[in-house]
Amino acid sequence: MIGNLNHVAIAVPDLDAAVATYRDTLGASVGAPQDEPDHGVTVVFITLPNTKIELLYPLGDNSPIAGFLARNPGGGIHHICYEVADIEAARDHLLARGARVLGDIKTGAHGKPVLFLHPKDFTGTLVELEQL
Ligand code: CO
Repeated sequence: MIGNLNHVAIAVPDLDAAVATYRDTLGASVGAPQDEPDHGVTVVFITLPNTKIELLYPLGDNSPIAGFLARNPGGGIHHICYEVADIEAARDHLLARGARVLGDIKTGAHGKPVLFLHPKDFTGTLVELEQL
């Protein structure tokens, strides 16, 4: 069901420092910060030849990554995103298999439908599915 790895999202406590690390130390192609008020994050997209990295930094008072950064003050991998061809079919399949789907299908930072899955059902990793 899942296809390509679309991105790995890393929550960071210092966006400028993380940008400098990826751009200058690792030599990656790093985009400009984008505020995503609907998602409570500022995102920086890093384009790699085969996938993307997304740096996530809290935006606003109720950012969904604030708790994660409180538990992981140095930052860390927040979620991984796999591509699916049909997100509604994927959701129905997962629910039928007893997996916990977090909330409803939403429009993600790329303007595509996304869905999040409970980390306890996926080896301790928050999983995002994105329909291309
Ligand atoms: Co994501």
